[in-house]
Order: sequence, then C-alpha cells, then structure tokens
Amino acid sequence: MAEVILKDEHDMLRPGLGRLKGKVAIVTGANSGIGRATSRLFAREGAKVVCCDIQETISPRIDQLIKEKENGDAVFALCDVTKQEDLDKAVKTAVDTFGKVDILYNNAGAGIRKKIHEHTDEEWNFVLNTNLNAMYRGAKAVMPTFIKQGHGNMVTTASTFGLLASAEYPGYCATKAAIINLTREMAIDYGPLGIRVNCVCPGAIETPRFRGFPPRPTLGEGMTDEQRKRMGASNKALLRMGRPEEIAYGVLFLVSDEATFVTGHALVVDGGQTIAV
Ligand SMILES: NC(=O)c1ccc[n+]([C@@H]2O[C@H](COP(=O)([O-])OP(=O)(O)OC[C@H]3O[C@@H](n4cnc5c(N)ncnc54)[C@H](O)[C@@H]3O)[C@@H](O)[C@H]2O)c1
Repeated sequence: MAEVILKDEHDMLRPGLGRLKGKVAIVTGANSGIGRATSRLFAREGAKVVCCDIQETISPRIDQLIKEKENGDAVFALCDVTKQEDLDKAVKTAVDTFGKVDILYNNAGAGIRKKIHEHTDEEWNFVLNTNLNAMYRGAKAVMPTFIKQGHGNMVTTASTFGLLASAEYPGYCATKAAIINLTREMAIDYGPLGIRVNCVCPGAIETPRFRGFPPRPTLGEGMTDEQRKRMGASNKALLRMGRPEEIAYGVLFLVSDEATFVTGHALVVDGGQTIAV
C-alpha cells in the first residue's frame, strides 16, 4: 500500500533559531489559525507556551502538536477571553507551571457581518467582548505579574480593518481600530516599567475563522476557491491570501529581543492591502 504523506499544516515555518529561549508565553485563540501557528513558532523558538482557547475540538490540540512536532513544552488552558477569571487563571497556570510570564499574545477575536441596524444587542456585545474587552481583560490579568517582574511583552491582534473600513462589519472595524489605539495607550503607561506593548494588523489570512455567532465548536466547510480569489485580490500587491505563519513571524519579531526599541507600534502584515485604493 502506498504511504500517505500528510503535508505539515505549518509548512512555512523555518528552523528555529532560539529567539525565545528561556521565555514563557501565553497565547489566546491558540488552537486555530494565527494563534495556533504563533504558539507553534514560539515553541520552535524555545518558549514554553500556555495555549488558551475556548474550544479544543481540533486534533491534534495545539499543546499536543507542540509536544509531538516541536519537542516543546506547552500546556492547554480552557479559557474564555470574555471572562476575567479565565484569564487570571491562565496567568496563574503560567507562573505555577513555568515560574513566570514573559509574553502575552492577546489574539482571540471574532466578527459578525451585518449592518448596524440588523445587529441584536447580544451580537453587538459578543463582538465587543470577544475583541476589545478581551484585550482589557488579558492586560488586567498579566500586568501585575509583568510589573512585579520588571519586564513583559504584550502583542494584541487588531486587523487592517482597524485602519480601513469594510462593509457590513461595524463591530469588528470599531473594535479593531480601538485595539490599535489601546495598544499605543498601554505602551505609554507601561513603557517606563520595562514593558512593551505592540499590535499586529493582519490582512486577509487563510484561517478557519470558524466560530461565528452563535459560536460553533466545529470547523466549517473551509473556503471556496472563489472566496479565496476574492480575498486574495484584496491584498493588492501580492495578490494572494496570507498564511497564519506569515503573521506569526511578525508577532515573533515584536516579542523578541530584536525589537527592544519597538513599542506602541501597529505592524501591518497584509500583502499590500492597505497601500492602495
Ligand atoms: N484571518 C484573517 O483574515 C484575519 C485578519 C485580520 C485579523 N484577524 C484576527 O486574528 C485573530 C485570530 O483569527 P484567526 O483568523 O486565526 O481565527 P480562527 O477562528 O482560526 O481562530 C480564532 C481562535 O480563537 C478562539 N476563540 C474565539 N473566541 C474565543 C473566546 N471567547 N475565548 C478564547 N478563545 C476564543 C477560537 O476558538 C479559535 O481557536 C482574531 O483576532 C482576528 O480578528 C484575522
């Protein structure tokens, strides 16, 4: 029988260079898409990772993937970023298991595509809670530890839709813009204490984006070729969708010791989406 060779889901990751050796990272939205690729890259670069997600149905779960493929150290924390106690627990897990927290990648997010007058209050609050309020909750959970340590590094995930508007996406566009300026504000407050805060703004990236509203625990049907082509064309210079690994490398730069003078920055990784009308 012919051997079946499965393609690695993150085949754009390069060999690790030890850029996060000795660091401990927490990643939210770690079991899918951008958070999954970033958690794996962090581990490949030597970090121990607390992988937080509200769902664990993807197999292998990210902590198992890290152990199996990266021979790395990771734990999974079932965590809803809309709940303060879950984020507090994730920080405690990092400190109890690995002794400290160097990095928080505040990444989980969601959106609902409809016009504002079509939103129910429940839908509107879902987007605000999952995107903007979760940044507040993640920061609130980790900052006391960062301050005590005298160092720390946070990255938030905004979007190019925090810089541009996209039709029928009011809550998403509003919260992503707010995340960019909240990032700058936190950089000012915590910079003097040795803490850097930056933000990544991805363009159209091919990820499952599967939870929707009401949130589903399972993967959707995936993207059609037509959707992929349309979204790829929105990245105007490279004319293709990005890969989660390509965002992960941007985040890695921001949290690494190669970016010690970078703070309050919104790093756009978008294949040229925002350079032309
Ligand atoms: N994919 C894109 O094109 C794109 C573009 C710009 C920005 N982003 C942003 O990147 C981030 C990651 O998106 P993705 O494309 O990887 O999506 P994804 O759906 O593949 O992954 C998101 C992960 O977050 C988790 N999550 C959702 N709600 C949560 C909650 N309340 N608590 C904990 N975990 C929760 C999901 O279970 C999932 O594992 C989001 O903030 C998104 O807005 C994505």
